[in-house]
Amino acid sequence: MKTATMMPNRKIPRYEELAEDITRMIEQATFNPGDRIPSIRSISRQMNVSITTAMEAYRLLEDRDLVEARPQSGYYVRPYYPRIAPEPNMPSPNKNPAAVSINDLVQMVYKDAQDKNLIPLGAAIPNPANLPVEKLNRILASVTRRKGVQSISYETACGFEGLRTQVARRAFHTGCRLTPKDILITSGCQEAVTLSLMAICRPGDTVAIESPTYFHHLQTLEALNLKVVEIATNLREGINLDDLESVMQKGKIRACLLITNISNPLGFLMPNEKKKALAKMIARYDVPLIEDDIWGDLSFARERPWTVKAFDKKGLVLLCSSISKTLAPGYRIGWVSAGRFQPEVERLKSIMSMATATAPQMAVAEFLANGGYDHHLRRIRRIYMRQVWWMTQTIRKFFPSGTRVSRPAGGYVLWVELPKSVDSLRLYESALKAKITIAPGPIFSVRNGYRNYIRLHAASWSDEIEKALATLGSLAENMTK
Ligand SMILES: Cc1ncc(COP(=O)(O)O)c(C=O)c1O
Repeated sequence: MKTATMMPNRKIPRYEELAEDITRMIEQATFNPGDRIPSIRSISRQMNVSITTAMEAYRLLEDRDLVEARPQSGYYVRPYYPRIAPEPNMPSPNKNPAAVSINDLVQMVYKDAQDKNLIPLGAAIPNPANLPVEKLNRILASVTRRKGVQSISYETACGFEGLRTQVARRAFHTGCRLTPKDILITSGCQEAVTLSLMAICRPGDTVAIESPTYFHHLQTLEALNLKVVEIATNLREGINLDDLESVMQKGKIRACLLITNISNPLGFLMPNEKKKALAKMIARYDVPLIEDDIWGDLSFARERPWTVKAFDKKGLVLLCSSISKTLAPGYRIGWVSAGRFQPEVERLKSIMSMATATAPQMAVAEFLANGGYDHHLRRIRRIYMRQVWWMTQTIRKFFPSGTRVSRPAGGYVLWVELPKSVDSLRLYESALKAKITIAPGPIFSVRNGYRNYIRLHAASWSDEIEKALATLGSLAENMTK
């Protein structure tokens, strides 16, 4: 983006000047991501320009991807990250398979994250204020009253048909054409991933994963006695396909486990072209992909992102997701569409837990059908977009120079690289003494990597959180001396 002062020899058209003024207001946080900017009519009145000039200025802002028009609603600021905040470096992981031994460290972080006396800056749990608690529970009461005995009876292993129908309908927006028969309801996304791994792998097998990746996946791989190969991952586009192909060529890989939309912790969105190429690659080598799409509904993109499953012609993708980030983590409702592995996943589900709890399935089905889920998503996406921006700004203000922050394409998780001298496990200990919890980098990889990285989350925002970030920043600063 060029500013007016950088182009002294050209007469700046009025609409460009106006676009620059608004750009500066966005850069200086007068308008934050998710905020509505003044309407064309009111800006034309305020700035004394014609409606046509104001329209041209807004079109320019749209072209620059700074604002978006929403039908019947106006213009809104899009996710925007300050140009001067650099993104983290991404080291290349070791390409050899490794056993996972992460459990004790993760359990410690989990336990601390649950302590209500500590300020949780690490655990990526949604803020209850952004969940439709009353509406959902009202629906639960009403649906169980109407369904009577059915609501307390065992469901089939596949799950409540009404919910499978809703999930299949929503899959249309992810580029998939699924029927209720293609869906199996699980106890959260975590069970969907676990059953998928169990359906494909045997102890000792190797699974390709992104690096860094969600620590609970590492724990699951450890519990199932699986090895992993960590693949280099780009902050904007996800896994490096050349590296993945080179390990596939060696025939070492039994499955891939990837978070393709809004990865946790990096926040990237894998572009469609890359998803298509990945679908072709797994087909070539006949390697199944467990695709975790739990964050997909919280993407800041204009359209709901597609999944690799949308391009899968051989039934090799096991698509896993849940409503834990958007509706109710405690209902424990997730699902898997396991392609050619569906019968085996169903068999395992009935062995493991017979079926998922019936009543929450009914309530979620009803909410997805008539509860205004899309409206709810639009609202919380705007909130998270804004909070991610505030947190980015606060980190820039209080953290040592040399700190780098990711630019998530959705959700509310931030990956932060600190100066090399800051050991995130030591920072974890000193933050704990200051009553703050964080997620230290080493829990996101198998070789104790990412020592100077942490994951933070912007699910909530308050003066207390801002203060905690300032404290964390000064603790990190002390470690640089
Ligand atoms: C990438 C990813 N997968 C799975 C889960 C767990 O999902 P659920 O609570 O639905 O089991 C999480 C939770 O943070 C997550 O970030």
